[in-house]
Amino acid sequence: MKKTPFVTLEQLKDIEKTYPTPYHIYDEKGIRENARRLNEAFAWNKGFKEYFAVKATPNPYIMQILKEEGCGSDCSSYTELLLAESVGNTGRDIMFSSNCTPPEDFELALKLGAIINLDDITHIDFLEKITGEGNLPDTICCRYNPGGYFALGTDIMDNPGDAKYGMTHEQIIEAYKILMRKGVKHFGIHSFLASNTVSNAYYPELARQLFALAVELKEKTGASIEFINLSGGIGIPYNPHQTPNDIAVIGEGVRRQYNEILVPAGIEAAIFTELGRYMLAPYGHLVTKAVHRKETYKHYIGVDACACNLMRPAMYGAYHHITVMGKDEDGEKMVYDVTGSLCENNDKFAIDRELPVIDIGDFLVIHDTGAHGFSMGYNYNGKLRSAELLLQEDGSVKLIRRAETPADYFATFDFEGASIKVKDSDE
Ligand SMILES: Cc1ncc(COP(=O)(O)O)c(C=O)c1O
Repeated sequence: MKKTPFVTLEQLKDIEKTYPTPYHIYDEKGIRENARRLNEAFAWNKGFKEYFAVKATPNPYIMQILKEEGCGSDCSSYTELLLAESVGNTGRDIMFSSNCTPPEDFELALKLGAIINLDDITHIDFLEKITGEGNLPDTICCRYNPGGYFALGTDIMDNPGDAKYGMTHEQIIEAYKILMRKGVKHFGIHSFLASNTVSNAYYPELARQLFALAVELKEKTGASIEFINLSGGIGIPYNPHQTPNDIAVIGEGVRRQYNEILVPAGIEAAIFTELGRYMLAPYGHLVTKAVHRKETYKHYIGVDACACNLMRPAMYGAYHHITVMGKDEDGEKMVYDVTGSLCENNDKFAIDRELPVIDIGDFLVIHDTGAHGFSMGYNYNGKLRSAELLLQEDGSVKLIRRAETPADYFATFDFEGASIKVKDSDE
């Protein structure tokens, strides 16, 4: 399927008058329509709720849009909890799914009344040291890791047995028994077995396993399983050759498992999700400009963005489609490496990619950067984080995070002289 940017070249030229490249831009209309499709696909389930994985796009303007579409916040850290609070998500509108959790993070989650998802059986005692004995919250969720490989048919999707997250089968049963003894009344189950699954079969298969576990937990411990969190993992077609997921088919697949497994067992659980990529990735672009052309053993195009703005290609060799704005995709082509300016040879947005012939000054749109894009940014080589913009439903553009300046970079040094290095104009 052809990937078409949600902004035109004319819009980019207009935006450039106020905001220089590089920047991330998000599409409000696309975000809202997609969230509505998800809610529609799970409308059969009373209590369904998407807790947007804040780590994917930790920006309160984006979180606010999703809140208006009925989504809560899935937080993994102290600061993400503060972000959730900043948009008015507290109490049961927050799932706190973290691991290796510092005590102050649990303290804030407790203060906000978030639903706490325990990653490990030892976290029961750890949490109780904070709440005081006998004072655990009424509602607790536990994260399950079945071990082994997660496969759909003959396709191995991921390797939970090698993942640091969650409790074993034996541990989770023991954990619910302990929690019951300690007075916890309401329970949930959570599991995340495979990432970026471009398959309609992932959620239904995960649901099958978690629903069976819910029945077993009810029988063996008497725990009342009130929600089942299928977590993240629904993927998107980064490569145009991939077939996109159909969320209506996914919702129907989960419903079938629900009716086959939970209904006969008399369990009426709410379904929760904590999707990040599926909610945001396609609705974000990293916009950058070609600034250098270099001809050595290969043809290089140097752009003004780098891996600090989008780490996925450097980190995972991930494919991100690139559109050269204003160029005919069926016209003359060249094979390029598209690079950033970091002193790291993996700072490449594309390697040996056939693209329309690129001229200096051309705008390049890097697709599907709306999730785990800006948020994975870093400051290597003293690079500064870019701005984030929102293309609003009425077509206007709003700055939702300004670009960092050298003053931001220097702000955390307590070093005499550091202040004089920052020019007034940089503040
Ligand atoms: C606990 C948890 N939930 C949800 C997500 C979101 O995953 P995705 O963006 O793949 O949907 C993640 C991603 O790392 C996660 O760790």
